Order: sequence, then C-alpha cells, then structure tokens
Amino acid sequence: MRNASLFAVLMMVFGSASAQFTNELPIPDTLSGTYFDLTVMEGTMDFVGGTPTATYGFNGNYLGPTLIFNRLDSVNIDVTNSLSEETTVHWHGFEIPAEFDGGPHNVIEPGETWDVGFKVLDHAATMWYHSHLHHNTARQVNKGMAGMIIIRDSEEAALDLPRTYGVDDIPMVLQDRQFNGAGQLVDSVSFGNHFLINGSLTPFKDVPAQVVRLRLLNGASHRPFVLGFSDNRDFSIIGSDGGLLTAPVDTNRLVMSPGERYEILVDLSADQGQSIFLRTYASEMPQFYPGGPFIIQDDPVTSPLDGSDSSLVMFNVVAPTVDPVMTVPTALASFTPYDENLAGRERLKLLSGLQSPGQPIRWLINGQQYVHSVNNDTVDAGAYEIWSVQNFSAALHPFHIHGGYFYLLDRNGNPPPPHERGKKDVVPITGNEIIRFIMRFPDYPDPEYSFMYHCHLLAHEDDGMMAQFIIADSSFINSVLEPEGSLTKMYPNPSSDLVTIEFPEDARTLVVSDMQGQVVQRINLKKQNAFVQLEISELPAGVYNVMVFREVGTELLKLVKP
Ligand code: C2O
Ligand code: CU
Ligand code: CU
Repeated sequence: MRNASLFAVLMMVFGSASAQFTNELPIPDTLSGTYFDLTVMEGTMDFVGGTPTATYGFNGNYLGPTLIFNRLDSVNIDVTNSLSEETTVHWHGFEIPAEFDGGPHNVIEPGETWDVGFKVLDHAATMWYHSHLHHNTARQVNKGMAGMIIIRDSEEAALDLPRTYGVDDIPMVLQDRQFNGAGQLVDSVSFGNHFLINGSLTPFKDVPAQVVRLRLLNGASHRPFVLGFSDNRDFSIIGSDGGLLTAPVDTNRLVMSPGERYEILVDLSADQGQSIFLRTYASEMPQFYPGGPFIIQDDPVTSPLDGSDSSLVMFNVVAPTVDPVMTVPTALASFTPYDENLAGRERLKLLSGLQSPGQPIRWLINGQQYVHSVNNDTVDAGAYEIWSVQNFSAALHPFHIHGGYFYLLDRNGNPPPPHERGKKDVVPITGNEIIRFIMRFPDYPDPEYSFMYHCHLLAHEDDGMMAQFIIADSSFINSVLEPEGSLTKMYPNPSSDLVTIEFPEDARTLVVSDMQGQVVQRINLKKQNAFVQLEISELPAGVYNVMVFREVGTELLKLVKP
C-alpha cells in the first residue's frame, strides 16, 4: 500500500514533469578561429508561449554563440553595441590585459565597436562572457547578455574525454528568470520563477548511451543550484572554473553558485531508452544559501522555486555514437597548486552588510561600496598573493576576482573539498566563513585600467559590493633609459617636440604617463605600422614613462622633456 502510493506520487511528479519537457534544448552556435565578431542586439523570444518577450542577445535574440578558443592563440574580437544604451562585455575567467577585460571601465557606447585583442593564456576550460556595466549588470544579463567560451588545449586533447559539441559535450547555461503577466522579463528582482536552460523552459535533450560531458555554467543572477540526477546516480566532476581537475571527483550532488562553472561526466551507457532528469535539489540547499528552505534575514528575496526540488532538463538516452567514450579517465590535468611560500603578501577582505532603519541592506567590501574612480589595491605584475576573504554577514557571497584563477587554500582553516582543489575564479563564501586563496596576478601592468573583484550575486555587485585593483610593475622603478635588449626604440631622447617610437610586432598599446602615474597619451599600436610619432611640445617639462605593452610583457622607456 505504501509502495503503491509512493509509486503514484512518483508517477505524478515525473509523469507531469516529463509532459512539460517538450522543448528541445537549444545548443548555442559556435564561433571559432582567431577572429570573432559579436554584436549585442535587441531581440524577442517566445519563452512562455504567445507573447514575445523583449530580450538582449549576442548575434541573436537571447544569450550568445559559444566562442571556441585555442590556448596560446592570439584572438581578436570585435564587439559592436547595437543597443540604444551603453554596455560592456567582460571575458569572465581570463588572464588578459585590463584594457580588454570588459569591466565597468570598458564602456561601449551605442553604435560603437570595441576592438579586443589578447593572447589566450588560460588552460582548457569553460569560461563565459557577460555584461559588466556598473549598476546595470543584473539588468543586462537578465535580458540575455551572456554566452559561453570553451578553451581547448593539447593537455585536454590528449585525454579520452567526450568533446563533440552538442552531442556528447553539452553546454548548459543554467538561469532562472521572472516573467510578469505580459510575458516580459522582470528585472527589478533577483530571483526568477522559471528555470531557463540555454534560454529554454523545461527542455529535453537526446543524449547517447555513453559517457556524456556537461559543461555547467551557473549564469543565474542570484540563485545557487544543488545539482543531481533524478535517480541519485553518481557522476564525476572533472573540471572547475579554470580548467580540469587532477582527477575526477565522484559525487551525486554538486552545489553551484552564480558565476561558477563545473564540467561533469555522467555515464549513461546502461540507460538507452530511458529518460533521466538533471534536477536542482533546493530543499538540500546549504544554510545561508539563498533559494533554500532556510529564511535568510539579510536577503529577503523569495520565489516559488525556493526550497523545493525541480527538474531542469530531461535527458532521453538514445543509441551511442560511432566512437563513444565509455569510461571516465582516472587521471586528468597535471598541476600543483602554488606553494604558500611564493606569496609576497597577504590581503584581508571583509564582506559585510550594513542595515540602516528603513533602508535596503548595503553590501560592502572592507566597509566600503564601489567607487568607480577610486582604485582600492595595487598589485605587482606576476606577483603571488594570498587573499583572506571573511564573510561577516549571514548571507552567501560568491567572491569573484578578475585577471585569472586562484587556488583555494582553506575554508575556516580546513582544506577545501576535493572538487574545489582545482583552478577557481569564483568561491562561494557562506555566512561567517573565512576562506584563503593564492593567486598569481596577471603579467599585464597598466596604470589606467583596473580589474574588479566582487560578489557574483549581481544585485550585490550592482549595489557596490565590488572593488578594483591596478597591476603595477615595481621593476619599472629601477629601470634605466633605453634598457639594454629592449625591442622598442625611441629617438631623439631627450626631446622637446617630436619623438619617434619604433615598436616590436607584437606590441599592442603604447601608454605615456607622467611621474605621478597620470596617463597623458594612449595609442592602439595594432592600428599602426612599426612606429609612431609623438608630438610632445605641449607637455610640461619632466620625465615621462613610455610603456609599450606587448602581447606578453611590457617595455618601459624614460622620455625626458627638457
Ligand atoms: Cu562574471 Cu566581474 O564577473
Ligand atoms: Cu569576471
Ligand atoms: Cu553578495
């Protein structure tokens, strides 16, 4: 009797659930090579049936194509803004020059094209791109401004892993969205009342009966996911934000906070003819995480999806492909997390909320809100640093830093769980928790453009739970006139009017700054041929830093204006 009623309940849950899973999971188109063209545009989608929903997308109506990069390629991306408002496009997870990072300082005006060029230094990984316009990130991402990036490299290619895009290697952008009665996206809330997977409600996907790879991106604005399969089977976590782990981690649950990526392998070889659901078990959400069964005082956003378990995608298992991967590799990438002794300094970042009567909570880093014109930290190019981040609030804050990846050292003094021992760029920090990570900062000094660090709950970020750092190069301080071996030539020097600067082929940007660090001139060298001429007769007398940023590395010359 008990079994019969349990069966009836299961039939109800899965019967009614599968009846809705009639939309085929959209697989974003791919763009590959070394030249990429992206246009941010307005669009419409038929999400809820009937009323078209106004959206934003890249080269389409909602979300964007998956960009495929090869490690060590030099890529160029032209990003055209065809919206009627400003935007920015951030390459989340990449070690790139700050001038191309796409943070709040890289605004693209309506009608403008932003010319991006960088060398792909990161390892094979699942990255993403999204709007990062200050105060407007949540709204623009909510409308659809996000896409996935896959980096390939030789280390990953040598492994027997599924990598046929859309067949056994499936991109999955997990989001939730709220629709109003007119079928339009509500952008004033953090939480949705519907799940969207690659922009589709309750989708299904045919997958082959073999080992299948899912590239999971939590692209939601506020909602963590507690992922698992409907039959509670184990799966293998093989990669985190910045690339592959050293070995698979088997589990039947994976908690993912906004901004995080994980790659998993699931063995479907014995399931042909069956359907299995990827679900989020919000009833199991850890304490302090939003969207779970616990009431979070600091974060009073609620949605009907909170605390209850939901199916996200129905996988229908079909015949295997011709050359299927049938086993999960036992070893993956080889790397050793940085030794703590490499770190030249340690910084402490405190996360807190400030509640004043009658006011919404203000979210703060080290007691302050983001100020667009104020730099908070200066870090040496290529320096290793340990950052301790302590959460003084009773809310989750997924802490994200731009400019590369880090290795988590500990959580509350304990070693991180195995799946958090790889390369990360977002770390969820729950209420009253303290974490430490070690990071090697990018080799790209720039006195003008900064990198961000912030909470990846987009409402918190927009509210000002964000700060910025500049990459400096202390070795510059000791550099001399025309350093030996420099490929950049500058003449005459000293000079009072016209200076010629010859630069090497891989030079990207020339920056001239005064001794106070104030930038007086910035030139895109990719648009110049072998040399530029500077007219300096208007500049006050003094010594100037002439920096030539190369693809990797920087050359510094001292220009003397008598
Ligand atoms: Cu994914 Cu600063 O962001
Ligand atoms: Cu980022
Ligand atoms: Cu936060």
